[in-house]
Amino acid sequence: MPISFDQQTKTVHLYNSSLSYLFTLLYTGAVGQVYCGAPLAPRSYPFLALSASGGVFHPDKNTVRFEYPAYGTGDYRTPAFVIQSRNGSTVTEPLYQSHKIYDGKPSVSALPALYTEREDEAQTVELTLFDAPSGVRIILYYTIFTDLPVIARRARFINAGEEPCRVRKAMSLNLDLPDRDWHLLTVSGAWARELQISEKPLMPGFQGIKSSRGNSGHQQNPFLILKRPATTDSGGEAWGFSLLYSGNFSATVESDCYGTSRVQLGINDETFSWKLEKGESFDTPEAVLVYSPDGLNRLSQVFHTVYQSRLARGPWRDKERPVLLNNWEGTYFNFTEHKLLAMASAAKELGIELFVLDDGWFGERDNDSSSLGDWFADTRKLPSGIAGLAEQITGMGLQFGLWIEPEMISKKSRLFELHPDWAIGVPGRCRSEQRNQYVLDMSRQEIVDYLTTIITDLIESAPISYIKWDMNRSITEPFSLSLPPDRQGEFFHRYILGVYELYDRLTTRFPQVLFESCAGGGGRFDPGILAFAPQAWLSDNTDALERLRLQASASLVYPQSSWGSHVSAVPNHQTGRSTSLNFRAMVAFFGNLGFELDPTTLSPEEKQAIASVCAFYKAHRRTFQYGRFFRLAVPDPALYAAWQVSSEAETLVGFYKLLAQPNRPPVRLHLAGLEPALVYDVSLWEEGGFEEQDKSYNCGQRGGDELMYGGLLLDATYVTKRGDFFGELFVIRHGTATLPEEERKPADRAGDSRGDFGKKLSV
Ligand code: GLA
Repeated sequence: MPISFDQQTKTVHLYNSSLSYLFTLLYTGAVGQVYCGAPLAPRSYPFLALSASGGVFHPDKNTVRFEYPAYGTGDYRTPAFVIQSRNGSTVTEPLYQSHKIYDGKPSVSALPALYTEREDEAQTVELTLFDAPSGVRIILYYTIFTDLPVIARRARFINAGEEPCRVRKAMSLNLDLPDRDWHLLTVSGAWARELQISEKPLMPGFQGIKSSRGNSGHQQNPFLILKRPATTDSGGEAWGFSLLYSGNFSATVESDCYGTSRVQLGINDETFSWKLEKGESFDTPEAVLVYSPDGLNRLSQVFHTVYQSRLARGPWRDKERPVLLNNWEGTYFNFTEHKLLAMASAAKELGIELFVLDDGWFGERDNDSSSLGDWFADTRKLPSGIAGLAEQITGMGLQFGLWIEPEMISKKSRLFELHPDWAIGVPGRCRSEQRNQYVLDMSRQEIVDYLTTIITDLIESAPISYIKWDMNRSITEPFSLSLPPDRQGEFFHRYILGVYELYDRLTTRFPQVLFESCAGGGGRFDPGILAFAPQAWLSDNTDALERLRLQASASLVYPQSSWGSHVSAVPNHQTGRSTSLNFRAMVAFFGNLGFELDPTTLSPEEKQAIASVCAFYKAHRRTFQYGRFFRLAVPDPALYAAWQVSSEAETLVGFYKLLAQPNRPPVRLHLAGLEPALVYDVSLWEEGGFEEQDKSYNCGQRGGDELMYGGLLLDATYVTKRGDFFGELFVIRHGTATLPEEERKPADRAGDSRGDFGKKLSV
């Protein structure tokens, strides 16, 4: 039983072999946070329970660690929720009413959520609080997974009173941690420069990130990590907090005068309010907490497991993803049917499996200033239409995929002529254009219905097996013509609910179609969207050096099966940098491989090289896409990068020399997660252009202990001969043979294995 209730202390304990989380009924009737962290045995904890209630020792509510703090009765830290009653007051003090514990996990209607496939995978406790004067009931849901250090949390607000009220803030999660000895890790960025990691010690006061753009944004990603100052990828304590949401969010930590740290994740309350009539309820999105006592790699791997297998849905969840060619960087808007067919035919010869037609195929779209909303083929470019083109391409033995941007409308479009009022805007004010386009009001049911019909017809009209769903601008002038004045605060959330509804309808109707999400690259790369589209275009930046950073940052929370990674032409279109084909491929292998170039312009040598890139990737695709991902430590991240993926059968290691420097020391690259006593067969990908010395030092039969504790010896030449941007890819086959007993180190003989490969993170 992973959830127990201790009658003596009135404490609920969620636990499994990796994690404990306890909350208790305080003497005031509120609920306090007792403990969360490394697992405790399931017994009574009277002293811990007492310590949650700082008020016992100190007459100040600001010393209490609350489970879901309210506003206005003496806790001056930020509340987890704010409810405004009809008389205008925002004071509330919800007290414990009841709780119930049951197997499995309930679903949240209309919102993405983790799920279970069997009841015994998880247990849930529902904690009900009630604020009698306002009549508002709050149900807090906590689900702990039996075999993973994962707790999913959310809240439901029910107006059980007689009067309408307004929810002005509703966090999905509040966690009052007892100390402030943490570093806060978040990511920030911009278009084509997403996911830059920032790490800083918690400071007294407020810190965090938020979006008010209508989408999660290139500028931040809806998660935060708290790590102990000394925690690294391979060791130390860390908490990860991730929000299953694609709209305006906030993720904050308030470090207070008594040294506690209040973590909150949820909808950004600056752009939110929700009216609840008598009897109505409101559900927050779900937040996911992951705990790791063993470093950030372990934290990431738990997120990967749960997002890959219990968030992503449909047949594509576990299927190998096709190698694709996307024509965007190869042609931009400038193509004809003839050109596309030539590209597809060349792609087929290289071993590519899916041809994706990107922007520019519809209306009269020769640049980005027109036609969004007119989802019919531009017959000037495509005389046979989408169906004719798709049939010719599938006739070559390729799959066919199509780009759309359903949520958008161009001023210059037939759709805008017919429905100018469908574009978001405030009556009497100008609408701001971004990328020459407006956004459709997805909070309106008629628009979601219209798009459902149009896109359904489009997909049914041709053999389409992949859709790239883009979203190239954020929202301005937020307002919906369909909402009354006192409900305009609901607009942003209703917009996202409309997006989810359209995704849900289309993915349910076309389970065989692979959906890839995109928002000018990584503008909506978040777990909410991953529940519908199992992969996303991570960034418009396809430069291999930049991708090393982007993919490593993304791997903090997201599995590599969730991102597309493409080899593009050089000089790179975003940075102007040139790197070798093998370097670009060795970076793009760690994700869902694709190409973003014009294959008709390749030389015979380049074609041959790409053919062997595709063949190699396909032979190891399951490991690349679904293997267990480790960020490996390198001596200087400005000079090197390295990572590893492991499946049952093999380990693939990418080592990247970034900048050359003469006479520098060799690198010892310590692998991770292997079985110390097993024998491994180490080789180099023959096309990799490796250094001979690196081959002779490292390849052959090696012990797991040797590879992890001794490491690979790399970049061991006196003078770096190969210049900048040089990669090596090790293919390590897992043998079944064990090292002879006398060759093992004592700890491994005793079964005290530091390696953890094979200890599968099960769900
Ligand atoms: C966005 C996407 C690109 C491409 C263009 C087309 O920027 O991220 O991959 O699809 O739109 O306009």
